[in-house]
Amino acid sequence: MMAERLAIDGGEPIRTHPFPSRGPGFGDAEIEQVTEVIRSGHLSRVGGPKTAAVEEKFARLLGVKHALAVTSGTAAIHTAIGTINPNPGDEIITTPVTDMGTIIGIIYQNAIPIFADVVPGGYQLDPESVRRKITPRTKAIIVVHLWGMAADMDAFLEMGREHGIAIIEDCAQAYLTSYRGRLAGTMGDLGCFSMQQSKHLTCGDGGLLVTNRDDLATRARLFADKGWDRSSGGRGHIFLGLNYRISELQSAVALAQLDKVEGFVSRRRALGDRLTAAISGIPGLHPPADSASSGNTYWFYPVRIVEKEFGMSRDRFVEALTAEGVPAWASWRRSSGCPATGSWRR
Ligand SMILES: Cc1ncc(COP(=O)(O)O)c(C=O)c1O
Repeated sequence: MMAERLAIDGGEPIRTHPFPSRGPGFGDAEIEQVTEVIRSGHLSRVGGPKTAAVEEKFARLLGVKHALAVTSGTAAIHTAIGTINPNPGDEIITTPVTDMGTIIGIIYQNAIPIFADVVPGGYQLDPESVRRKITPRTKAIIVVHLWGMAADMDAFLEMGREHGIAIIEDCAQAYLTSYRGRLAGTMGDLGCFSMQQSKHLTCGDGGLLVTNRDDLATRARLFADKGWDRSSGGRGHIFLGLNYRISELQSAVALAQLDKVEGFVSRRRALGDRLTAAISGIPGLHPPADSASSGNTYWFYPVRIVEKEFGMSRDRFVEALTAEGVPAWASWRRSSGCPATGSWRR
């Protein structure tokens, strides 16, 4: 349907009712799961059945040996870094085009984030740029599958093998994203997911870490539980870890969501592909690759604009979409500064 006049020029908006709020529909299944937990009187993951069930179900969904549920995607990535255990000053290469949660764990483990470029005209880490950043201090590469599209994993896996570097996949935005027949998160040494409100699988806040390696799984579990070796039956804290234990309440919601995530993903794929097909070929407007060519699960729908060819500025395009009732914004906004800096002393 074509409007006579754009909404930004005073015409009728195309979209007359609001988009559904973000987050996949919670319903009776989530309510029943949470109610069960509260009635049981047991809210801690330690000895609780829901978190164990989430871990088992997620591992099965991805076809991996181990899954660990934690409190956030940031916690999952921090746990992955604690698991590979860098020495102070070791370097971890990643992308600057990501959420801060990718970087936080690197710094907290006293390693140094090294930023490589993304592919020209694209969104994912550029293997050639990463290769140029490798030094004898490189301990790991964190590959982010941005917006739901897969990065070029074969190139990173080869670098990992060649240089003895750990490959961590940040799949916070990439549930069931595929790459040459394999699922994001299952190819590297460790895969990390976020269950924050906006993600394909959510419990408000939460995270998941997966691996096929028994040794990494053991260390990750310890790191996220204060280094507490519960198998000894005592209170032996065998190295410095954090308390990233998710609660049974969050896991109850995640458990119900796990039954829905494949459905959400296939719906998003169908809608995203339809939009990509519809707007392909407009000069200066570059839609994301479709699900067949990029494994895209369309977490967000990024479009790149070459303003000269498109005939409109990026900011004006965002204003025009917003006026039509379509939520849109321009990346990346500059931070206005931190109000919380300064001394704790009064
Ligand atoms: C790529 C990426 N990495 C890490 C994170 C951190 O996840 P969380 O917000 O659950 O801590 C996010 C969250 O949006 C993300 O998009």
